[in-house]
Amino acid sequence: MLVNPLDPFNFGKKHHFVGVFFYTNQMSSVLTGITTNGPPHLGNYVGAMRPAIELSKKSKSFIFLADYHSLIKQQDPELTHQSTLSIAAAWIACGLDLENTIFYRQSSIPQIMELNWILTSITPKGLMNRAHAYKAIQDATNGKDKDKNVQMGLFNYPILMSSDILMFNADLIPVGSDQKQHIEMTRDIANKFNLTYGSFFNLPEPLIDKTTSYLPGLDGNKMSKSYSNYIDLFADEKKLQKQINQIKTDSLEPGEKKSQDSILYKYFKCFVGNNEIKKIDDYFNEGMGWGDLKKILFELINTELTPSREKYFDLINNPKKVEKILLEGESKAFEIASKNLRNIRSLVGIKTL
Ligand code: TRP
Repeated sequence: MLVNPLDPFNFGKKHHFVGVFFYTNQMSSVLTGITTNGPPHLGNYVGAMRPAIELSKKSKSFIFLADYHSLIKQQDPELTHQSTLSIAAAWIACGLDLENTIFYRQSSIPQIMELNWILTSITPKGLMNRAHAYKAIQDATNGKDKDKNVQMGLFNYPILMSSDILMFNADLIPVGSDQKQHIEMTRDIANKFNLTYGSFFNLPEPLIDKTTSYLPGLDGNKMSKSYSNYIDLFADEKKLQKQINQIKTDSLEPGEKKSQDSILYKYFKCFVGNNEIKKIDDYFNEGMGWGDLKKILFELINTELTPSREKYFDLINNPKKVEKILLEGESKAFEIASKNLRNIRSLVGIKTL
């Protein structure tokens, strides 16, 4: 029998999800967040939003806006603020199941920051030295001072991410493959805590589907707001087509066979089901021109996004609707976080006399 790896109701079955095995012996909880440092982009949608929304229809979910993470990436208060609204609106417009989901701003749950300190106190510096994001910035820095562009927030970033996850003892973390290392670090930190103070934290698993949840940027590198190589999730049709036209291709002419290693093929993989990919393979093998392939890709993406686009703009123009939904989620998240933090504080010796 085929097991749907996204179905946490397949109790006790062994799932194979891109190299990650996990067992779901009990009701699993799902948690993911998006950093609010720009408008929502297609990479956020494919890597985190789409899989998490599917899961939210069936399992208890924690979905949050990583606004404190945003301060590490840029220091434009208006951008952080606007992006919090637009990313929240995008989650709701794309169909997040608000019955099963606790939806909140990270900054509204101060317990996460308190846990951050507790975990910082036991995290080995050597573990953080190995973080790809930190190393990439060091490698990109010419000259002697390798720490020139490194803020402490960036260096400690994986600990804050661990606090986000461990605060709610979440089991499954749908993320893009670039975040895999952060989940491994979360497991290391959770383990260290459990060994030091007694077992409290679950060891979370990343939920990564390399073929359908990794969308490269226009230039083939990681799609990121920081690199300005992204496609807006809710651009109007004209802009969407324009951005798709900017996806880098080689100079092969119509009639020449196109490679499945191309950036464009990776986009198709994210937007066509298994049944239709054969047709796309034929187009690539037959040598359809890049321009025509891009038109087909536009149609596919546009068809998937059109129903959500209108809802999105309605929410952006009515921020109070979004605020109300967040406040409801935040009161639930606050309660769970308070209870967990009380136990964690007690384990480390911070309690009443
Ligand atoms: N680091 C993630 C990103 O840049 C965002 C994030 C912050 C996150 N905390 C998290 C994702 C906890 C999953 C779980 O995409």
